[in-house]
Amino acid sequence: MKTTTEKFGVTPHQPSLWTRADALKVRADDPTTTQPLVRADFPVLSDDVFIWDTMPLRDLDGNVTSVDGWSVIFTLTADRHPNDPQYLDEDGNYDILRDWNDRHGRAKMYYWFSRTGKNWEFGGRVMAEGVSPTAREWAGTPILLNDRGEVDLYYTAVTPGATIVKVRGRVVTTEHGVSMVGFEKVKPLFEADGKMYQTEAQNAFWGFRDPWPFRDPEDGKLYMLFEGNVAGERGSHKVGEAEIGDVPPGYEDVGNSRFQTACVGIAVARDADGDDWEMLPPLLTAVGVNDQTERPHFVFQDGKYYLFTISHTFTYGDGVTGPDGVYGFVADSLFGPYVPLNGSGLVLGNPSSQPFQTYSHYVMPNGLVTSFIDSVPTDETGTQIRVGGTEAPTVGLKIKGQQTFVVGEYDYGYIPPMLDVTLK
Ligand code: FRU
Repeated sequence: MKTTTEKFGVTPHQPSLWTRADALKVRADDPTTTQPLVRADFPVLSDDVFIWDTMPLRDLDGNVTSVDGWSVIFTLTADRHPNDPQYLDEDGNYDILRDWNDRHGRAKMYYWFSRTGKNWEFGGRVMAEGVSPTAREWAGTPILLNDRGEVDLYYTAVTPGATIVKVRGRVVTTEHGVSMVGFEKVKPLFEADGKMYQTEAQNAFWGFRDPWPFRDPEDGKLYMLFEGNVAGERGSHKVGEAEIGDVPPGYEDVGNSRFQTACVGIAVARDADGDDWEMLPPLLTAVGVNDQTERPHFVFQDGKYYLFTISHTFTYGDGVTGPDGVYGFVADSLFGPYVPLNGSGLVLGNPSSQPFQTYSHYVMPNGLVTSFIDSVPTDETGTQIRVGGTEAPTVGLKIKGQQTFVVGEYDYGYIPPMLDVTLK
């Protein structure tokens, strides 16, 4: 019998493993893989809304694209509630941290535009209230399809469930700004199957989200990365020799790390439009290492596949750890095998003195890395913090073979276009 992957003319593959031995090599505060300190006096994009995950408009090859000279970003967004009694503390002061921590439950997709690739102007909500079938509009990818301005927005429709969906609309420009029109009909694409990717029934803490469609530079087919967990009942996973890797004596104990089951999923489109998808086995698994490999994405460079994914300290398994930030893996072909960048996988982590300063890093093909500010300490002890909900300074990265180096820092939310499309 042919395997699913052979059916679609895709080479069958084994997932690559991010092992516990790899993760033991993670070193926080190595200057070549640490994000420069974010100052507490950062500017905020908006006093009315929090923003976090940032999704630059791009083409299917990964190039960040402006239209008629306008850069466009999509962001997960939620209202700030400085005057809502629900978010006042006992002394009547705004508890911004509680408001910020509650944001995921009311996340909506918004867009912003700019002539300069920074200083973003507020565009508004992409879909009208009621268009999206679920309470939460979680991360995904806006793809500029053509010079008519058609855009496919892939995103995650969450609560109830978690479904990868897409909605088609159009970007329209004038001399004065950008608007998004259409985005009225949401098409469900797929959800976790319980055989390759864990379902909510198997684990209430499952992750299945963050679609990132792309055209494979080698075979020209349309694929999609996404975040998942390896299928199986919670607690049933085995952390065996392969997942442990080549550890020194005394490091064989995996504790309770069988609960950490992150993977980077991949699907292939059966049609040119990306309306019909087939899930394939994960590209990369982190069983026994980490429970979340979020917002996976590629940079195609020097004939190699650079796979990036964001992860947290709190999602690591027992006996391994690392900073919040972006991790990376490299392979010579799409289906691997993938090797952790810098030996460990760590590409850009928060400094240990400011462990929550930024998150949701997105590495662009020009080596620039955008992220959002989560919270930054305002005193020596780190007990006082300032909540962000805004764009972080962009970081410059040099990617060389199996290594990466932090080489620069730019303005807040600097996301310059790599190409411009003149709309017809
Ligand atoms: C990353 C993330 C995504 C998810 C969104 C929810 O910051 O956890 O994986 O889509 O935020 O707010």
